[in-house]
Parts: sequence; structure tokens; C-alpha cells
Amino acid sequence: MIVRGEGCYLWDDQGRRYLDGCGGAFVANLGHGVAEIGDAMARQARSVAYVSGMAFTTEPVEELAQELATLCPGDLDHIYFLSSGSEAVEAALKLARQYWVERGRTDKHEIISLAPGYHGNTLLAMSASARPHYATFFGDWTVAVHRIPAPLAYHCACRGDDAECAVCSGMVLEERIREIGAHRVAAFIAEPVGGSSTGAATPRADYFRNIRDICDRNDVLFVADEVACGAGRTGTWSALEPYGVAPDIMTMGKGIAGGYAPLSAVAAPRRVVDVIARGSGALAHAQTFSHHAVTCAAGLATLRYLREHELVERARTMGALLHERLAALRELPHVGDVRGRGMLAGIELVQDREMRTPFPRRAHVAERFTEAAQRAGLVVWPNYGHVDGTDGDIVMLAPAFVIEPPQIDELVMLLRTAYDESVAGAMATT
Ligand SMILES: Cc1ncc(COP(=O)(O)O)c(C=O)c1O
Repeated sequence: MIVRGEGCYLWDDQGRRYLDGCGGAFVANLGHGVAEIGDAMARQARSVAYVSGMAFTTEPVEELAQELATLCPGDLDHIYFLSSGSEAVEAALKLARQYWVERGRTDKHEIISLAPGYHGNTLLAMSASARPHYATFFGDWTVAVHRIPAPLAYHCACRGDDAECAVCSGMVLEERIREIGAHRVAAFIAEPVGGSSTGAATPRADYFRNIRDICDRNDVLFVADEVACGAGRTGTWSALEPYGVAPDIMTMGKGIAGGYAPLSAVAAPRRVVDVIARGSGALAHAQTFSHHAVTCAAGLATLRYLREHELVERARTMGALLHERLAALRELPHVGDVRGRGMLAGIELVQDREMRTPFPRRAHVAERFTEAAQRAGLVVWPNYGHVDGTDGDIVMLAPAFVIEPPQIDELVMLLRTAYDESVAGAMATT
């Protein structure tokens, strides 16, 4: 039981201290215990905590929307607030579908996503997620979503070395759209930098330019899911920024309120929103807790705190240091890859480094590593199954942007301890 948090550290009810290496599920971007955010929420709750977003708006909703619009890439300037990333993905995909229906293009209802990939746990978001183990239980209820392989160079046949590779360049999307028929494809959804399902895979520099061109050529809406990689996590506000392109719709969540409140958002441009405004008049989506005044006050206070303390810039500089230090782990015989950008990193653990073969699932390497880390006083996030739906072990890191260089050294030292205590045991089980 965690009873207190401050900066990058958490304390449990036994008085034990943990370095929070992953901000929960990549959420605690500012670090724990920032009084300003709590104060802003309390002020808003005392003033007015809730009105229905269907009837009214409030100051924090309007101000946060305006500030987010200046941070979002391209012409994304209309924002719809929800609570979870899954809800944002549901709303974003519904927005894409409604847009095409209102334009009279009713055949456009197919969605394409990346495999591996993750977009949430509600049924449409889960359908878009390539997570085979969920299909075991809920497959009958999900919507058929088309997949293309994610640009995960480490496991690609080309090993990231072929400029012409259709997967690593994104050109595979064009083939898939042609197979389905462009007149039927509504949207392509992708994480600009992967979350845990690819271990923070960073597509190469031309990937999203190619994706943008393919979507434009085929009249397909490009939905960027920045729930995990956005809000400054990769060292720029939007993870798409370094690619120099903008999506048609973008989702945000997790870190946009730093974990102080459950806040997510969908951003879209006037050219999309106006089609609906001039047609049926409104997005056919409503939730009791959309546009919540207190969660938006938390989001607004988070944005201001990030700006005042230059924390996105810090995520870039400290992120570079983090990756420099993590690179030393590559010398360990079962560390296959260390990837990511800024304050997001994935460490892939493999049985055979030369062949890049994963450990068998029965060895539970990612979970053992995470448990060993926690025993040593470090919280990390495990993921498994990215190689073939079953095997593949990843340890994810997403520290708070306020992490200091000595804490980065502490983190790497604790990772080595966890490795020594878990991977050796896993080898005995295989
Ligand atoms: C890229 C991405 N999209 C959507 C989601 C779903 O967000 P939530 O868990 O807040 O519903 C997640 C959660 O991990 C995510 O990583």
C-alpha cells in the first residue's frame, strides 16, 4: 500500500521507499506530490465541480482547450475532454466514422491499425488493439479491424537495415488500403511512438511522412494515438512533432493531468468538426463526465507547471541522459534491445541475443524482473507477448520529467540488480 509520493519516489505503509521508474502506467509526468495541482483542483471544486458538458462549459474547460490547441500539431484546434484513454480512442474513431457518414461516404467504415499495438480496453478500442490474449475471452464481441505490422525494426526481417522495407517505411499501409479498397477505409490509427506493446518502438524518420501521404492519397483519416507517448513524454509535446507531420485526429490521456486526475482528450481540426456541425450538428457521443471542471483544472495546472518549470525541454535533455545510461545495459547477455525516446524506454529481454529469440512464456521473465525490481526498491512496468502474441518480454520505463542525474544512475543500478536476480532464475526454468 502506497501512502505517500514525492517527486520520483513512493513510500509504502511499511516505510519502504521506491524509485518510481514508470510513473504508474506512464502517467506521473510531473512527479508525485505537486501541491500546485492539488490546490488548483480544490479551488475549482470549491467554485463549481460539475456541470453537464452537454449543457454548459466552464473556465478550466475553455482555457485548457485553448492551451492544448496551441500545443497540438497542425490544425488540431477543437478539443473534446473525457476521462480515460480508451474513451478518447472510442470517441476519436466514432468521430472519424461520423465524419465520413456526414460526407455521404457511408461505405467508409473499415479501420486499420498496427500489430503489435494498444489503444485501450473498451470494445472498439480493444478491437483496434492487436492483443491476441484479449481475443481469447472477448473476440466474439470485438469489431474486425485490419492490421499492418508495426514498424518494430528489432523484429523486422530487415532488422531495420533496408531503406525499401515496406513495413519500416510504412508503405505496407498503401498495400493494405488497396486490398480493402480505399472507398471502404475510414481511418488508420497508430501510436507515433509505441507504448508497452512494442517496447517504445520509434519508427524511422520517413515513416509518418509516408503514412501522411498514403492517407492523403486515399482519403483515409490518420488518427494519432498519443495517450501514452504524448504530453511531452518523448521530449516534445506531441510525439509526432519530430516527424514534421500532423494527424487528422489525435488522442491524449495519461500524463496530460500528470495522474492528478483521470483526464483524456480528442483533438480534431475545424475541417473535420465543421462537416458534423453543418450536418447533424453534433458528435453522436455523450458521457456524464466529459468536460469535467475539476479534471480540466488539473490538466490546466499541469500544463502551466510543465511550462513554468520547462519540463518538456527537461524530458528531452534528461531523456537523452537516460538513454545514454541505459545503453550500458546492452552489455548484459539477455538484453536484446533498449529503445525509446525522451522519458520513454523499453528494454527487451531475449533468450538468444544473436537470433533475437524471446524467452518462452512459461519463464515469465518480464514479471519476474518487475518483482525483483520492486524488491530492490524500483517500480517498472512489464509487458509480454509482442513477438508472436505469446512470447516476448519487455520492461518499460517512464520516469517523471523531474528526475535528476543521480536518480538516473540509481535507476540503472537497480535495473542491474533486478536483472541479476531474475533473468538467471528464468534461464534455469527454460
Ligand atoms: C496508446 C494507448 N492508447 C490508449 C490507452 C488506453 O488508455 P486508458 O488505460 O486510460 O483507458 C493506452 C493505455 O495504456 C495506451 O497506451
